[in-house]
Amino acid sequence: MQGTFYVVGVGPGDPGLMTLKAVRILEKCDVWFVPSAFKHGDSMALSIVSGEVSTEGKTILTHHFPMKLVHRGKDPDPEVTAAWQEAATIIIDQLRAGNDVVFPTLGDPAIYSTGYYVCETLQKSGADIKVEIIPGVSSIGASSAAAGLPLCLGDERLVVIPATFENGAMRDVLAQSDTVVFMKVHKVMPKLVTLLDELDLLDKAVLVEKSSLGDQKIWTNIRDAVDRDIHYFSTILVRKQ
Ligand SMILES: C[S@@+](CC[C@H](N)C(=O)[O-])C[C@H]1O[C@@H](n2cnc3c(N)ncnc32)[C@H](O)[C@@H]1O
Repeated sequence: MQGTFYVVGVGPGDPGLMTLKAVRILEKCDVWFVPSAFKHGDSMALSIVSGEVSTEGKTILTHHFPMKLVHRGKDPDPEVTAAWQEAATIIIDQLRAGNDVVFPTLGDPAIYSTGYYVCETLQKSGADIKVEIIPGVSSIGASSAAAGLPLCLGDERLVVIPATFENGAMRDVLAQSDTVVFMKVHKVMPKLVTLLDELDLLDKAVLVEKSSLGDQKIWTNIRDAVDRDIHYFSTILVRKQ
């Protein structure tokens, strides 16, 4: 019988924030297809999972997905589509061999996760595949909890946006929302700090680095982080109220 493909959110870093369902599915699947952002690099999702679930006896297939901007509605970089395509081919082979395959993904799969691109590629392949998505604790909630800041209350509007996109879009969301969550901030701190300063919002911004992990850091003066080599696991919350 053909296996099932599971995309499982593994939370923001603390293995204790993995759901019981995530753990159960990781335990039952013999094949773990783990994403890595760097060629021959470690998988961040795998490092979270292996803090809670034994990897003994598992076939671990690490696959590199290049970190390049994807604009929805436009053709992605060919290197990116090639990685999705190769992933889909490997996963289909495993499923046809009767193996259940799990794709652990950082935080929640619904938020900027490669897991959904892989699912789309599987669907487009025409193969008849059973897919299940298991939600996880997002780094957005974890960052909010770490900073002790709610994201939205009452009739407030919340927007989530990657800070890697053009300033125009970020300006618009800052004008129209009560809280903005900026993700993927680690490489674009100078331009983001300049923009927030221009809009007089610097004192409303909090940077949360490595939320939920032992070395989590909260930066209330985000200017201090501009010249630092902050971690990829960094999110900025701007709450205007
Ligand atoms: C590709 S997105 C994945 C988001 C993930 N699906 C989620 O639900 O949290 C990666 C971004 O998530 C944020 N992130 C992930 N883990 C984090 C953590 N532990 N603390 C703060 N931000 C984190 C950072 O902004 C990072 O650049």
